[in-house]
Amino acid sequence: MLYIGIDLGTSAVKLLLMNEKGEIQNIVSKEYPLYFPQPGWSEQKPEDWYEQTMAGLKELIKDADKSQVAGISFGGQMHGLVILDKDDNVIRPAILWNDGRTYEECDYLNDVIGKETLSKYTANISFTGFTAPKILWVKNKEPENFAKIEKIMLPKDYIAYKLTGVHCTDVSDASGMLVFDVKNRTWSKEMCDICGIKEEQLAKIYESYETVGTVLPEIADELGISENVKVAAGAGDNAAAAVGTGTVGDGMCNISLGTSGTVFISSKNFGVDKFNALHSFAHADGSYHLMGCMLSAASCNKWWMDDIIGTKDYAAEQADITKLGENHVYFLPYLMGERSPHNNPNARGTFIGMTMDTSRADMTQAVLEGVAFALRDSLEVARSLGINIERTKICGGGAKSPLWKKIIANVLNLKVDMIESEEGPAMGGAMLAAVACGEYASVEEIAGKLVKIVDTVEPDPELVAKYETRYQQFKEIYPACKPIYDIIK
Ligand code: XUL
Repeated sequence: MLYIGIDLGTSAVKLLLMNEKGEIQNIVSKEYPLYFPQPGWSEQKPEDWYEQTMAGLKELIKDADKSQVAGISFGGQMHGLVILDKDDNVIRPAILWNDGRTYEECDYLNDVIGKETLSKYTANISFTGFTAPKILWVKNKEPENFAKIEKIMLPKDYIAYKLTGVHCTDVSDASGMLVFDVKNRTWSKEMCDICGIKEEQLAKIYESYETVGTVLPEIADELGISENVKVAAGAGDNAAAAVGTGTVGDGMCNISLGTSGTVFISSKNFGVDKFNALHSFAHADGSYHLMGCMLSAASCNKWWMDDIIGTKDYAAEQADITKLGENHVYFLPYLMGERSPHNNPNARGTFIGMTMDTSRADMTQAVLEGVAFALRDSLEVARSLGINIERTKICGGGAKSPLWKKIIANVLNLKVDMIESEEGPAMGGAMLAAVACGEYASVEEIAGKLVKIVDTVEPDPELVAKYETRYQQFKEIYPACKPIYDIIK
């Protein structure tokens, strides 16, 4: 049998076809535009997602035995607000996870409703990228659009809706909305009231590995697949990536180096940290996880390479980097503001420490190191909670760079396990489809059988010590710059 994983990302949709043994048959990627209509805003058109997903699906299975396709599922960019009217038209472009416009609504939620109350209802506090402040923003700033809302959904759920006609979501993605009671895996009535919405406007909740329906006849027809193909709810991209890298069960870690950067820690039990510095979300395997999320990770390197230096040859630029642990240049990777742990939409990308002999390679190195230092900020929160992490998996576009993996292993002092396929969320999506179709009994079982570690980057004690000094210096820069960010916003 064949299973399809759809990773609805921020720069592109990535589609993966695998057989029941987890062997990848094909991978297709289709890009779509990202709009920044104002500084700190970030939007996409759900219609673009759907169009490119359908084009990608056709290409993905063009040479496959279509009668063997049994299931489809997802990993999707989290938190994005998609709103439909009574005729199922998209009311306005989706407001994405890395959009910082909702700072007033966030202040209202965190300061007037109060962090403690939010944490009691949802296990989390408000960040600008979360969905509830976006709902409030539409209510406050675009009341005519708010009045039209019939259905509220997350990005991947829009695709599921188009494929099946079922208004569904899954527990992991719903966790990032701030209208979801994570502990009890159900919508929070209190949060619906606070946001001025009705539960009927929200989707039906499923576990990630549950079937929500089958493809609509017209979709089956267009793709040349059976009407019995099952669609499973899927997961937010980080939980899906965790499934794809085998980060399930207790105390496992995955680092995702995509547009965003995340440190994801799986947990059998529900837990919240005292300051809600890490997100406390439901996991796609039926349990829970903690997560720190930085808003710009591999995207910092992409910005530096593509837009500033003007090269596509990332490996050639990295080949000139030789002085690991000795760079005097620092980069704060806050190009879209920052979520974990600073929660500051006004933070900005910052280079500091250059001298007349600073080279292009030093600056490139500073970008890679700045992302690693910022990931460590989240890991330190987990460590301060007594969570002992010694090794991690890694996935996402940035994980293709051996140098970056080495920097991460040494800055975070973690063994970095590399797995056969780095296709985190797309692979996880296909695996969730396989579980929904009964090919495997559970997410833990499929992860145990399919995910194989092929190599490990070990931290080198000498380099770890050098980076420890650098990290302590890095940590001083953000508090010093913070007042400036507020002035230049
Ligand atoms: C997680 C988050 C990002 C997006 C990226 O909280 O906002 O990782 O899911 O797609």
